[in-house]
Amino acid sequence: MAVLKIFCAFICNCAMARTNAYNEDTLVNKEFGIQVADGLTSVDARILPAPMLKYHETGREASVNPGFGQWNMINKKMFNGGRVEVWTCVNFSTRLNRDVPFQFCQGLVDMCNSKGMVFNPRPVIPISSSNPNQIEKALVDVHNRTAQQGKQLQMLIIILPDVSGSYGRIKRVCETELGIVSQCCQPRQASRLNMQYFENVALKINVKVGGRNTVLVDAVQKRIPLVTDRPTIIFGADVTHPQPGEDSSPSIAAVVASMDWPEVTKYRGLVSAQAHHEEIIQDLYKSTQDPQRGLVHGGMIRELLIAFRRSTNFKPHRIIFYRDGVSEGQFSQVLLHEMNAIRQACASLEEGYAPPVTFVVVQKRHHTRLFPADHNRRDLTDRSGNILPGTVVDTHICHPTEFDFYLNSHAGIQGTSRPTHYHVLYDENRFTADGLQVLTNNLCYTYARCTRSVSIVPPAYYAHLAAFRARYYIEDETSAGGSTGGSRSTAERSLAIRPLPVIKDNVKDVMFYC
Ligand SMILES: *[C@@H]1O[C@H](CO)[C@@H](O)[C@H](O)[C@H]1NC(C)=O
Ligand SMILES: *[C@@H]1O[C@H](CO)[C@@H](O)[C@H](O)[C@H]1NC(C)=O
Repeated sequence: MAVLKIFCAFICNCAMARTNAYNEDTLVNKEFGIQVADGLTSVDARILPAPMLKYHETGREASVNPGFGQWNMINKKMFNGGRVEVWTCVNFSTRLNRDVPFQFCQGLVDMCNSKGMVFNPRPVIPISSSNPNQIEKALVDVHNRTAQQGKQLQMLIIILPDVSGSYGRIKRVCETELGIVSQCCQPRQASRLNMQYFENVALKINVKVGGRNTVLVDAVQKRIPLVTDRPTIIFGADVTHPQPGEDSSPSIAAVVASMDWPEVTKYRGLVSAQAHHEEIIQDLYKSTQDPQRGLVHGGMIRELLIAFRRSTNFKPHRIIFYRDGVSEGQFSQVLLHEMNAIRQACASLEEGYAPPVTFVVVQKRHHTRLFPADHNRRDLTDRSGNILPGTVVDTHICHPTEFDFYLNSHAGIQGTSRPTHYHVLYDENRFTADGLQVLTNNLCYTYARCTRSVSIVPPAYYAHLAAFRARYYIEDETSAGGSTGGSRSTAERSLAIRPLPVIKDNVKDVMFYC
């Protein structure tokens, strides 16, 4: 593969470092002139080819070759369209014209069907409207009326209230009380009947009912390096901390794991509350002594390994663990504790069961930016003038003895693309650098919610979404006057971490967090 020259800059601005890492690109651009001047280094880079993606065309398989990190589904159908037999819609928006909810649902159902799903055009109970001040009652009512027909909703489409702030309640009630998988839509979008919007929503609905939008061609041909040769489970994990000021709020850990092999597109997501600002994931493995049953094993890794076995009929022979949300100073503690938990979880399933593990830290928050050495080189830049998706740097600015790399896997939109730093802390699978880089880059094309490659490896992205979803649950409990904190002292609050509301099993079986 050709080696290209690009520039690298270490951006140093402490104020900026503290701002939210997912939104600061424009800031970087503004500060470019001053900040970068004396920090620009020329580095060697390679550009990894985009993978081919598999879809269906009428009656046959078809593959797509993404260009510049993007592709489209014109005349293409989902690789595995899901089936929706039992659904309905509830409207909470007071501003829409009378026919809008019906037209909206019809447009959405038509789009789902045209993209390869099998979506019943008739709702199980009529599309209804409900008072936005009585959300809980409306959801229970829809649930009950479906149950009266001896059925269970597979999908509830919800047109959100005009005033924001109800999303958390809707998701908490649906996912933790009623066992309903839902798709929420903004009233503004519902009235526009926009085809691109319908397509994006259809992609989300499909994975929420267990379908697959696309898979890597090489997965079908059983040729993804590091994955297809033996049953492999890929984990993503993240911890999100509460905003400053929310001292009584716990940190939330989320772990997702792939449930299909060799395709690696469906991820089951679990969440767990832990002490405020605790960076190490506490609930990866747990054991308790039960007076009747003796030693009882638990924890998120164990649950996910069991689910993998159930859905693929294989036990994983290899584990790849992408861990987001670790600060540099915590690398060794996190590695030590979490590797140990992974080991214990494996051993708890079967004596001597110890599949090789590769532990990779994923960092979006760093100060390195990559720029094309020559902005006019079409083979180095995309239309936004950014470095190309697939650009990888693993020399010079990386650690001399450790295994790490910067990968810019996504297309630039505005500002300077932020590459993601992957740092392999532990590698029992003995991957080559190229092997892990290609695998990571390929996975970035399998993110379910869009027809673009994304900037962080999807399992890490999904873990972030799942943790974010759980944050909504507790915000709703708090705003509903739940018993968080109140007059209790800080010490008392940190002792008792209130567990998250439990997500229903049927919801956990699909990518509800998408
Ligand atoms: C949607 O629901 C709201 C709240 O119940 C109601 O005021 C409004 O008329 C409904 N809109 C439509 C188009 O049915
Ligand atoms: C829904 O059904 C449950 C159990 O059958 C019942 O307890 C509850 O009152 C019903 N709620 C509504 C709003 O119909």
